[in-house]
Amino acid sequence: MYKAPQKPRILTGDRPTGPLHLGHYVGTLANRVKLQDQYDCFFIIADLHTLTTQNSKEQTTTLNDRVRGLVLDYLSVGIDPAKSVIYQQSQVPEVTYLYLLFNMLVSVPRAQRIPTLKDVLKAAHIENPSVGLLSYPILQSADILMVKGNLVPVGKDQESHVEITREIASTFNKMYGQIFPEPKALIGDIGTLVGTDGNSKMSKSLNNCIYLSDDEATVTKKVMGMYTDPTRLRPTDPGHVEGNPVFIYHDAFNDNKAEVEDLKSRYLVGQVGDVEVKQKLALAINKFLTPIREKRKLYESKPELIDQIIQEGSAKAKAEAAKTLAEALQAMGIK
Ligand code: TRP
Repeated sequence: MYKAPQKPRILTGDRPTGPLHLGHYVGTLANRVKLQDQYDCFFIIADLHTLTTQNSKEQTTTLNDRVRGLVLDYLSVGIDPAKSVIYQQSQVPEVTYLYLLFNMLVSVPRAQRIPTLKDVLKAAHIENPSVGLLSYPILQSADILMVKGNLVPVGKDQESHVEITREIASTFNKMYGQIFPEPKALIGDIGTLVGTDGNSKMSKSLNNCIYLSDDEATVTKKVMGMYTDPTRLRPTDPGHVEGNPVFIYHDAFNDNKAEVEDLKSRYLVGQVGDVEVKQKLALAINKFLTPIREKRKLYESKPELIDQIIQEGSAKAKAEAAKTLAEALQAMGIK
């Protein structure tokens, strides 16, 4: 009987550490939504990964609420559970078995060289990282290879984790037999979005985010307080457009390109004030967020549906994981 060829697979996702923001959108969410028809998509809510830095009882007992919050963020931007699998990592314990097998394939110095480790230690003020934190990217590799993911849409900061995933796949394949694909990262149009304070990265810990769940008034307030060209004291001073966060956001979120070009040209010659540029930006971002807010509202009113999406998605991911794990163990001659 004719069997339709399987579509290539996407696996990507997030840790449920808090609400998603505009940086997530341009870095990876836009790509995920766009690629849902072309790819067989798996979106992981990586709750086990959060334990690497947040494992107090207070944090573990509130984890499930954050899992639900993240699913709501996914659904609000247009990830469609009828097309894509959304699942909770902890409901697929097979991944931890694969993670154990992969841990043997990575040397300690290789794990220590991964750049995100240094960043996390600094941001979270950690002096003595746990073994779990050191092997964070190996768990991520297990997530990706567990479903034989081919493409991993992520923000720029996650590129090194996809790189080590490729190394693990290649090492395993050489040692035991061809089981895993070597997946590629797909970085969004803007791999890293600047924060509202001009800091190089929008990040919860820097308190410089516009969240997908922010209401209109909050967005307007944040935009009006944004960092802009510090060399410009008066609206009649010629300003800088390049690298100016306000214009980076205009380019990313304002669909009225003629308006953006007009503002830029007037800004360069000192014929527009920052207030006008920001007011127009606030309107543009609120317009961009309107359909997202509407979808969120719809799903917010159906909490049982969220539970059902997680259950069904996790069952599908578990079936894939069990199959891949069995293949890997068989290739190794263990089972
Ligand atoms: N490490 C990712 C992040 O912090 C989250 C994640 C966990 C992930 N497992 C993954 C991303 C697998 C892509 C693929 O954003």
